[in-house]
Amino acid sequence: MKIWKKVLSGAVAISMVSVMAACGGDDDANETPVNDDPANETENNNADNVNNNDEDGAEASEDQEEVTLTYARGHDATGATDKLVEAFMEENPHITVEFREMPADTGQSHDQYVTEFSAGDATIDVFDADVIWPAEFAQGGYVLELDRFIERDGIDMDAYFEGTVDSGNFDGRQWAMPKFTDAGLLYYRSDIVDEAPETWDDLIEMAGEYQGEEGTDFGYLMQANQYEGLVVNAIEFIASYGGEVINENQEVTVNSPETIAAIEKMVEIVESDFVPGNILNFDEPSTHTAFLEGQSVFARNWPYMQAMTEDEGQSQVQGNVEFALLPAGDAGSAAGLGGWMTMINRNSENPEEAWEFVKFMTGPEGQKITAIDGGSAPTLRDLYEDEEVRNAAPLFADEEFVSTLENAVPRPVSPIYPQISDIMQIELSRALAGEISAEEAAENMESQIESALAE
Ligand code: GLC
Repeated sequence: MKIWKKVLSGAVAISMVSVMAACGGDDDANETPVNDDPANETENNNADNVNNNDEDGAEASEDQEEVTLTYARGHDATGATDKLVEAFMEENPHITVEFREMPADTGQSHDQYVTEFSAGDATIDVFDADVIWPAEFAQGGYVLELDRFIERDGIDMDAYFEGTVDSGNFDGRQWAMPKFTDAGLLYYRSDIVDEAPETWDDLIEMAGEYQGEEGTDFGYLMQANQYEGLVVNAIEFIASYGGEVINENQEVTVNSPETIAAIEKMVEIVESDFVPGNILNFDEPSTHTAFLEGQSVFARNWPYMQAMTEDEGQSQVQGNVEFALLPAGDAGSAAGLGGWMTMINRNSENPEEAWEFVKFMTGPEGQKITAIDGGSAPTLRDLYEDEEVRNAAPLFADEEFVSTLENAVPRPVSPIYPQISDIMQIELSRALAGEISAEEAAENMESQIESALAE
């Protein structure tokens, strides 16, 4: 029996108080105007409140009210989400979780969330959030600040990789809990090459040389479609040549010789004969489909693809795939930081139960399910020492991979990140299509991002 079901969008729109206190500091949480917010009662951060809600859920459940939560995330081809929800519902019999599937493309699901939340819709209680969303969603007043729960339940945020916690922090407060983390990897066919290329130039040479072996059609696959995945691929090239989009002083520094060299390298690759003719339409699903069918010698993708390569039902390259760091540019190798967090809709009518679900998914038990059944990398450091996790995928037992995760390069953190991303997507696509030069793309990105930030 499937104990949780997919539901279509219901529409319970309630008016939303969408103002967020603009300044940091714990006390401000209590001043945030959240009139309709049922979580208000729990918002008291004083010491008496800390830890007084012990884990006696099982005993209490008899007189607990039945609650139904709606949980939204993109399609999960691995089946891990089903397991996660089942395990949670078993431990929390008074809570039913209904699933709402969002588009696989992060940009498309982002736009749907923003449309609903900005209208004050309360249908979705809990949702998975791409690491690039928290600042914007916090600023927009779409989500609940979580410090009240974190402090009360004594959650140790130091147990998580720092970068993943930072992605959910804005204005000194925590708005999202880290669920799994992502870093770009180079996959290669170990039945064709003995070692991964060290530099982008080595990759270009080897992809050309080995294309066609063992029935492959292509040397390399990457995400070059005009969408968020292109931004991550570009950030990896840019960082590997020593460039950055916005520096630590919040200055836009993307128009640099380093960025230009990086874009030129991307253009060289997409214009080569060893990538598919439609590489400018490639995203993660088209990458894994082609790679699992044995079509390419090398591919850039996230960790989830590793589990798929070894899955008999989906892979024709079982036993013939290894992973490595992405190739280096002049400044070294760089992996882009991705990953997903969970957040609570500010208008959720069940904030306490929503938090219980968030706490479960992002705690050790939930993250273990996501790692073992979903192949996604935990954000809790200790899980890399867990035997079951280590045995589930070679990736998780690999020290180099774990340090790659910790050192992955983030995208700019900004409440207007979607605008920054759009600018980059458009200019990079034009460069990859040969419509403008790498210099023009870098110049346009810099001036447009600067004016977007100045608005
Ligand atoms: C993965 C990453 C996410 C990124 C997306 C781009 O889902 O985890 O952070 O934005 O890919 O396609």
